[in-house]
Amino acid sequence: MNLNKERLKERTKQIEEIIFSYLPKEKGEQKTVIEAMNYSVQAGGKRLRPMLMQETYFMFGGDGESIYPFMAAIEMIHTYSLVHDDLPAMDNDEYRRGKKTTWAQFDECTAILAGDALLNFAFETALKAAKGDHPHILHALSILAAKAGIYGMIGGQTADIEAEKQTEVMDGESLLFIHEHKTAALIQAAMMIGAVMAGASKEETLLIEKCAYNIGIAFQIQDDILDVTSTFDILGKPIGSDEKNHKMTYVSIYGLEKSKEDVERLSEEAISILSSFGRRNLFLEELVKQLINREK
Ligand code: IPE
Ligand code: IPE
Ligand code: MG
Ligand code: MG
Ligand code: MG
Repeated sequence: MNLNKERLKERTKQIEEIIFSYLPKEKGEQKTVIEAMNYSVQAGGKRLRPMLMQETYFMFGGDGESIYPFMAAIEMIHTYSLVHDDLPAMDNDEYRRGKKTTWAQFDECTAILAGDALLNFAFETALKAAKGDHPHILHALSILAAKAGIYGMIGGQTADIEAEKQTEVMDGESLLFIHEHKTAALIQAAMMIGAVMAGASKEETLLIEKCAYNIGIAFQIQDDILDVTSTFDILGKPIGSDEKNHKMTYVSIYGLEKSKEDVERLSEEAISILSSFGRRNLFLEELVKQLINREK
């Protein structure tokens, strides 16, 4: 099965409708920060994390709406991480998803607050799932909190920024720490929450964590590749951002060829884990496969 472009577009649209339905109304004294939050979430993007979450949920037999608040929450956390990542103090980028970054569109203070607000609102939103007295909510919430935090995404972003000051070539282990935490952690959260909310067992959830690790590392290596090989028009964000910031990336350490090989190897490992489950989701397997050759 080849991932049908129309089908992918349709899924992206369905997911956006779910996410947008949880966004706050732009009114009141706090209107400006809410406008900046909504601007950032509505700017576009692949919606990969909520898609992986819902498809994993489907794979373990989940259905219905109790996953919706978590789908919105993971995209809010991902978007906040990008709003802060683009700030002048961090990667200093002015375009994302083909539009001005939040700080460039509003101002730095508003972007900092909009990022804070999205993180907090993500938990306010995810807690809405608790209304239904669902048996797995607390477990899902604790995964979300941990993978976004100092032992997850924030830990990776910290190491990423500190590494910019380093002059000697980074060892592979340190680079993997960065990629695992800054990028794989939220992808793990997405897929693990999908599994847990559908009632997957502990063993199955651990396998999903490993699978999402592979997808996450491959995804960041591909992001590093595209920073060198793509164009602004395709990517919607500036190319050469890593070099500008003296960042050591998978490409600068291992070269393009090995980077491409590793994206393929890691993605295939992930697909082989997915195809080992009794119940398969071929759309999910195809989605992971097409990430190998993604152009944005
Ligand atoms: C960009 O994530 C940041 C990384 C972790 C590489 P995405 O490539 O998923 O960004 P959007 O959401 O599609 O814009
Ligand atoms: C960002 O990595 C990962 C985050 C947690 C935000 P990058 O800095 O490489 O992401 P882009 O290239 O700006 O999207
Ligand atoms: Mg960055
Ligand atoms: Mg960046
Ligand atoms: Mg990048």
